[in-house]
Amino acid sequence: MSVLTEKRIVLGVTGSIASYKAADLASKLTQLGAEVDVVLTAAAAQFITPLTFQSVTGRRAYVDADLWGNEGHVLHVRLGKEANLILVAPATANTLAKLAQGRADNLLTLAALTGTAPWVLAPAMDGDMYASPATQANLAQLAERGAHILGPQSGHLASGMTGVGRMVEPAEITAQVRYLLTRGGALAGRRVLVTAGGTQEAIDPVRAITNRSSGKQGYALAQAALDAGAEVTLVSGPTALAAPTGTNLRLVRSAEEMLAEVLEQAKDADALLMAAAVADFRPKASAAQKIKRAGGTPQIELVANPDILAAVTKTRSRKLKAIIGFAAESQDLLQNAQKKLKAKQVDMIVANDISASDAGFEVDTNQVVLVSKQGVQELPSMGKDEVARVVVERLGKFFY
Ligand code: PMT
Repeated sequence: MSVLTEKRIVLGVTGSIASYKAADLASKLTQLGAEVDVVLTAAAAQFITPLTFQSVTGRRAYVDADLWGNEGHVLHVRLGKEANLILVAPATANTLAKLAQGRADNLLTLAALTGTAPWVLAPAMDGDMYASPATQANLAQLAERGAHILGPQSGHLASGMTGVGRMVEPAEITAQVRYLLTRGGALAGRRVLVTAGGTQEAIDPVRAITNRSSGKQGYALAQAALDAGAEVTLVSGPTALAAPTGTNLRLVRSAEEMLAEVLEQAKDADALLMAAAVADFRPKASAAQKIKRAGGTPQIELVANPDILAAVTKTRSRKLKAIIGFAAESQDLLQNAQKKLKAKQVDMIVANDISASDAGFEVDTNQVVLVSKQGVQELPSMGKDEVARVVVERLGKFFY
């Protein structure tokens, strides 16, 4: 089952050059499992054909002529009422004006008016049209009524000029839609705290002791928890990744910074997923200035970092129903995981076999065993997003 399975989206496409990007958007939403009913306005059909959309959604795409076609006069009612979300991308100044006024003179605006689904609108137009008082007033009114307005962005416009008016990229619209349509999931109302990435322990202003954690597994956990409807805070060490849409991202660098942030965020969390690779040691002192080669080879004395999991379990509130730790192991996976389960007093350990080339640090796949008092669940090698989905599914069981 995909994350948007059984979700129906009416994707309204209006007459803008950005309408070609709507095909990519329709494809992305379909790949997430959504049933996407595309409705083109007459102007959109000048830029792109229904066939393009039918090819990527596997479903019929509609134009105004369908209002009077085989499915009779109720097509707009069915489309509007069955939709979980009305998405208009690109949304022209003309269609925004119609939506603001409640005009219903084409299939798209009719469908939008018939249902109660939330509206997500991604404006795209010339910069001056966007800046015009009329468009701004329409957008303000639509936002006040609860419509989600995405963008527009600044950049190169079809007129050849640069300004604010570009449609937000399909990937970002997809991420917003994914977030909005998953709010009612099994973890709705739960606050899940996730840690990800490696910490950096400064030697001097330039150098640090760190590890190979890319943050991929932790970020995938954050996305999986969001997909399950949770409110997610992600405490992350430095990574190259973008946080999933909807996360409360708290960036940290060192283990001590991570400890302080996790303890603060854990106060009102319902669950902690500790995927970060926290450095166990740090330099006793960090040099204020860059250490010069000319000064000879430095001797770096290390001291132990605090154990973050231990600190959380010590101050654990009753609200915190599940603490799930990870264990990166290169040998004796199960035995070491069992030891950590006891020593760290956590509810579950995700034992991570880092000896395989397709598991552990940096790669997109992982191989883990879930170890808890309830037993041992061995998972085959799978994508980190899939591992995250299984872990979050197990997390859900701690609430019942
Ligand atoms: O980020 P990726 O490239 O996707 O890689 C994913 C991963 C391999 C980093 C991840 O799947 C993983 O295994 N994370 C835990 C790595 C680790 O530090 O394991 P550990 O066995 O050293 O620590 C056990 C647990 O204690 C972990 O939950 C860790 O976050 C926690 N810990 C460790 C040290 C410390 N000072 N404080 C802690 O809380």
